[in-house]
Formats: sequence, structure tokens, C-alpha cells
Amino acid sequence: MKDPLLFTPGPLTTSATVKAAMQHDVGSRDTDFIELVAGIRAELLRIAGVSREQGYEAVLMQGSGTFGLESVISSVIPPEGRFVVLANGAYGERMAAIAERLGISTRLARWPENESPDPASVQHLIEEEPAATHVAIVRCETTTGILNPIDEITHIVKAAGREFIVDAMSSFGGVPIDLNKLEIDYVISSPNKCLESVPGFSFVLARRAVLETTKDCARSVSLDLFAQWEGLERNGQFRFTPPTHALLAFARALEELREEGGVSARAARYRANHEALRTGMRELGFAEYLPEERQSNIITAFRYPDDPNFQFEDFYQHLRARGFVIYPGKLSRANCFRIGTIGRMNEQNVRDLVAAIGRYARLKPSYVSATI
Ligand SMILES: Cc1ncc(COP(=O)(O)O)c(C=O)c1O
Repeated sequence: MKDPLLFTPGPLTTSATVKAAMQHDVGSRDTDFIELVAGIRAELLRIAGVSREQGYEAVLMQGSGTFGLESVISSVIPPEGRFVVLANGAYGERMAAIAERLGISTRLARWPENESPDPASVQHLIEEEPAATHVAIVRCETTTGILNPIDEITHIVKAAGREFIVDAMSSFGGVPIDLNKLEIDYVISSPNKCLESVPGFSFVLARRAVLETTKDCARSVSLDLFAQWEGLERNGQFRFTPPTHALLAFARALEELREEGGVSARAARYRANHEALRTGMRELGFAEYLPEERQSNIITAFRYPDDPNFQFEDFYQHLRARGFVIYPGKLSRANCFRIGTIGRMNEQNVRDLVAAIGRYARLKPSYVSATI
């Protein structure tokens, strides 16, 4: 059976060659495998514009993206630390929830889901929070697809001498990030989003000078970021069973990113995907949740049609039966569904999805108000 196309924020559609790379069994202590892991770590830093020589480290952590976030939050904020989360969606809320569960003193600063934290209020907030040691934000808040502008905020946080944590889960590899210019202390992401690989682990890019101060600070054994880094440094190995097949796939996915022309070329493909989606959906009478200037090319939230009979599940199943998987909404107030435009897909795939949505709207004409 043919795999459906995944218009989701991940796991997403991967290339046949990335999937094929997993057709091998490798020993986790094998020299070739250790070299593969070292190559992946170096490549991740390169994508972010830095290197080990420039004082950055890439640490791989088993588990999904949330495990990477929990690893950082539970490992780097000291017992007397205070954590400020700048949130405008579910993933910002999740970082605060992790910290609260761990008993970390936390302030959750909320913005509306269709607005980004703005530099002036962040400046004010930081001044109000002299005890805050760590500040966090989500780069692309996948709840809506909003792209939070982090440049100025990074400068504000760093000028105030606080450590800065960025959840770049759904943006890394698809939205440029230059750690040379932005002195972010911890960036967390995952292979199964814009890097177009399969799930199984997450990764953290960390400034070595701050990472080195976190020894024995972790509240968890398995998620101890410093110990994981130390282990990888000591013998190139994971402390506990590594996701070998996912790492083989990831090494191939990173090669494919290079072959495509790097992050800027990938970003251009995603932009074209997003534009094809926006144009087609508008023609069908659907409206985006976000204003255009805040919208990323990663995922787009569309409002439900103005019809009480619209049922997402029916809509979803109709598309699923035709080989397209879309994503439900996650907004706290507005009724939306989401369509991702990342993964191994192009404009034509997006147009095919829009055509299938158009056929659904013709089938159930009251669901979409526009003339189709
Ligand atoms: C911005 C962001 N943060 C965190 C996560 C959580 O990642 P995972 O579902 O891999 O745990 C996601 C997942 O979509 C995300 O988009």
C-alpha cells in the first residue's frame, strides 16, 4: 500500500532513500557507527553556523522532541534558578509545565496565540524579573505556525546576562538560525521535522561555556544533558541504547539537505509549498488564522468554514482515504485545522491536496461558502 502524504508537523513524509538507510543493523559500539554519530554532531553545528572550535556542542538525546526540551530544562536550571517562558501557544505552555512539574520556580508570560512576544514587553519583563536565570521561547510556535522573531529578544536576554533557551523543534533546518550572530545558549530540535528524517531522538546545540557549568545539576539520570555530552565526548557513544536505525536515517537526511543546497534552498521549497497552499485554499474560500506577515512556511492554521455542520473528522477521513493526512487544530480559542508544508514534498503535492479539498467542498457544498 502506498504511504499517504503527511501534511503534518512531523513525523512527516521522508524520502525513499532516508527510509532505505534504515535497512541495516549496526552495533552501537562499532567504529563506523561512532564515526557516523560524530559526523552528525559536527553537521548539526555547521547547519547552525558554528563549530566546536567556536565553543558549541551538539548533544543527541534519545526520545522525541519533548524529551530534548525536558532534558535541557531539567539539567541546566540550578535549584536556585528561575525560569521565564515567553509563550504564545501550546509548546511554550509545555516548557512551563515541564519546569513546574520539576519544581522549578517559573513565570509563564503569555501572549495571544496570534501575536508574538514583542521586544519592548520582553525588556520590561526581564527588568521585572531580576532573579530570572533562564528565559525560553519557541521559534516557530507550531500551534499556529507563527514565526517568533528571536533576534532582538536574544539580544535583550543576553544583554541582561540571562541564559537563553530556544525551542527550534519545527523550524531548525527550514528556517535559518545563525548561532554566530545570536548567542543562544541552548537550541533544541528534532530530526523528524525540517531535517526530514524519522523520529527517535532529539538534539541540543549548546554553548560549551554554559554547558560546562551544569555538571551534577540534572534532576534526571536518563535526561542528564551534561552526562550525555560527557558520555559522547568520552567514547563517542550514547550512555544507553542509541536509536541506531534512526541515526542511520538521519545521516542520510543530512546528506540530502546538503544536496538540496542547504537550509536556504529548503526554506525556498517550503515557501513555494506554503504559497501554493495559501493561494489554493483562499480560492476555495478558506481563511488563514494568522495575518500573512506572521505566518511561517512550516504549518498553516485554517479556520473552520463558517458552517455548524462542518466536522473535522469527516473532512480528515475523506482526505485520508485519498492519501493525504492533515492535522487537527491545537488552538485554545479558535476552531482551526492545520496543514504542514514541510517534509519530502513539493508544490505539485500541495496542489493535489488542495484539489482533493476542493472535491470535498463540492461534495458538501454548504461547508465552504465561496463559489467553487
Ligand atoms: C515547537 C515544538 N516544540 C515541541 C514539540 C514536541 O515534539 P515531540 O512531539 O517530538 O515531543 C513540537 C512538536 O510538534 C513542536 O512543534
